[in-house]
Amino acid sequence: MAQVKMLNGSSIDLGVCYYPEHWDEGLWAEDLDRMLEAGIQTVRIAEFAWSLIEPREGEFTYDFFDGFLELASKKGMQVIFCTPTATPPAWLTEKYPEVLNADMEGHLYRHGSRRHYNYNSPVYREKTRIIVEKSASHYGPHPAIVGWQLDNEFNCENDRFYSQSDTAAFRRFLQEKYGTLEALNEAWGTVFWNQTYTAWEEVYVPRKTNTNSVNPHQVLDYYRFVSDSVNSYARLQADIVRKYKKPGDFITTNGMFANIDYQRMQKESLDVLMYDSYPDFGYALDGYNPADPMKDRWWSRNLAEVRAVSSIFGIMEQQSGANGWNTRMEAPSPRPGQLTLWTMQSIAHGADYISYFRWRTCTFGTEIYWHGILDYSGRENRRLREVREVSGKLSKMQELAGARYVARVGIVKDYDNIWDAQQDRWHARVDLVSQNALFVVLQQTHTPFDYVYLENHRDAESLRQYDLLFYPHACILTKERIQVLEDYVAAGGKLVMGCRTGYKDINGKCVMEYLPGLAAKLTGTDIPEYSFVAPDEGRITVEWEGAEFAAAVFNDLLAPMGEHAQVLGTYTSGPYAGTPALIRNRFGKGEAYYFGGAFAEDTVRVFLEKLGAVEPYGEILSLPEGCELALREKGGRCYLFVLNYIAEPAEIHIHTKLYNLLEQREETGRQILEKYGVRIFSF
Ligand code: GAL
Repeated sequence: MAQVKMLNGSSIDLGVCYYPEHWDEGLWAEDLDRMLEAGIQTVRIAEFAWSLIEPREGEFTYDFFDGFLELASKKGMQVIFCTPTATPPAWLTEKYPEVLNADMEGHLYRHGSRRHYNYNSPVYREKTRIIVEKSASHYGPHPAIVGWQLDNEFNCENDRFYSQSDTAAFRRFLQEKYGTLEALNEAWGTVFWNQTYTAWEEVYVPRKTNTNSVNPHQVLDYYRFVSDSVNSYARLQADIVRKYKKPGDFITTNGMFANIDYQRMQKESLDVLMYDSYPDFGYALDGYNPADPMKDRWWSRNLAEVRAVSSIFGIMEQQSGANGWNTRMEAPSPRPGQLTLWTMQSIAHGADYISYFRWRTCTFGTEIYWHGILDYSGRENRRLREVREVSGKLSKMQELAGARYVARVGIVKDYDNIWDAQQDRWHARVDLVSQNALFVVLQQTHTPFDYVYLENHRDAESLRQYDLLFYPHACILTKERIQVLEDYVAAGGKLVMGCRTGYKDINGKCVMEYLPGLAAKLTGTDIPEYSFVAPDEGRITVEWEGAEFAAAVFNDLLAPMGEHAQVLGTYTSGPYAGTPALIRNRFGKGEAYYFGGAFAEDTVRVFLEKLGAVEPYGEILSLPEGCELALREKGGRCYLFVLNYIAEPAEIHIHTKLYNLLEQREETGRQILEKYGVRIFSF
């Protein structure tokens, strides 16, 4: 069969998630024909189907998927085949309960749902090795297969693991990391509250305690340990699949969840990461906030996170119907146009493969309300028509396959700070405000941005593409990271850091240096004092050359240090009015800014404007805030995506001449973008 080489920069393709085991075999051929007719050329199968390959321990049978793959081949349908480890069979968990995950009190999560296993059980790892070896060696050579998905959504449902195997593995992880108990006691500050360990057997994964808080340095290491466990488990599978898969077939996994270093997973185990995108949660019945300007647009933030792992990626599960389990999550069906909008949202950020979840809505089980393209009856419907239209649009967009998302602004991140903020409320409060505000304002001002992870191998050269970096609250700083940032700024970059920078070391312990610790030299800043903004102080403001804006949540009171540091802004309200709140330090050819607060929306706006980063395509076109702008570029050709998320027509103005890719004509001047409408302009 003629294979579309997916995800290699030569095409943008459609797929769908299919569960042959949910349907009478008599439906398969018709389903595949209907998919192909709608422009769907790939199906993902088998991620929850362990028992169809190993119905009883050690008994293997391949007939079921052999039958399906043969039909797929005959029809010309490509297949992404999955390892089935997200749902261990009942025979396995019953005989070996140690494979199960447990809650913090050690109670096991039993059979009956999914993702109830733990990554560290020697039995589960062995059973995984066997099922992956059997599946990959048998199905690997099949011509219909184009790629492999490992497991399904690592860390979905649960991102914490408290089984006995986890404790045993945690001890090994710590022994390797610290060597001696003395070093561990030191790193965790166990002298506090008499937590000192005298034998490795006394050390556990976090357990229920009297205060419900656990030693924070232990918890930080625990999140690192969870990530290490997932990564080693993914690697175990990837190494086996790689032995058997055909050359050119890719290895992927789907979704993005907490406590996983995905950059490491990409490096060690994956060819490409796929994301599962359900923007309809922006309209979920529970927690719906009509005043939230982002709603389904928050998913662009997730897509930026995916892009920080795989610059070109896939969507393994793209929303095609209403969300819902029978026990939670209620959200409406995508309204006419939204299925297209959300597909294009993914493509705008770098997805070259879009696979809808799912073909038919399941008529049984927990996900009876998680709708696919088709409803229970399978009748022709409006969503399938919309998929057909999307397919027609894609045929006009093929030239942009492999084009890279372009951003001149970066938001710097690292897992140590992410995981620290997960447990440290002081850290979380500032981070939440700043991360949300940065995203909202960058979106509303049509300023594309990337997330940039400061992994160990990151060098300043790789940051050069950004004119401006925000590293809002690097509470934990390391010498290596500050060195990379110093090199970036010295070479001409602009870096903005916010309150609470540099007060913790890599173990999450507070440093005894003058703050901002390791960032003092780069930012030319000293922080003699600091405080939360008290609830009765209201909004604390700062003035910077005529602009007044908030210093939210927390205030570092600043003093300039050295001849290149200049106070640009001072607090204009609250108990510290008149104290410096913003310092610019010229450093080499660039500038580092230290701001004493968290970044509220008005604050971000002022920074973007004053630092010349706002609305970089404003000379080409003007858009209302309700529209997102994204840019992909390939071989000198740029593709500007305009996505209208609001249920009203939007007026846009093109100031030059742009080529409308979908309409295949040049356009200029005022245009009306229909509700949920999408335009792709090339120039
Ligand atoms: C994803 C998962 C799918 C399905 C879908 C709807 O998280 O990968 O298997 O469960 O959500 O709940």
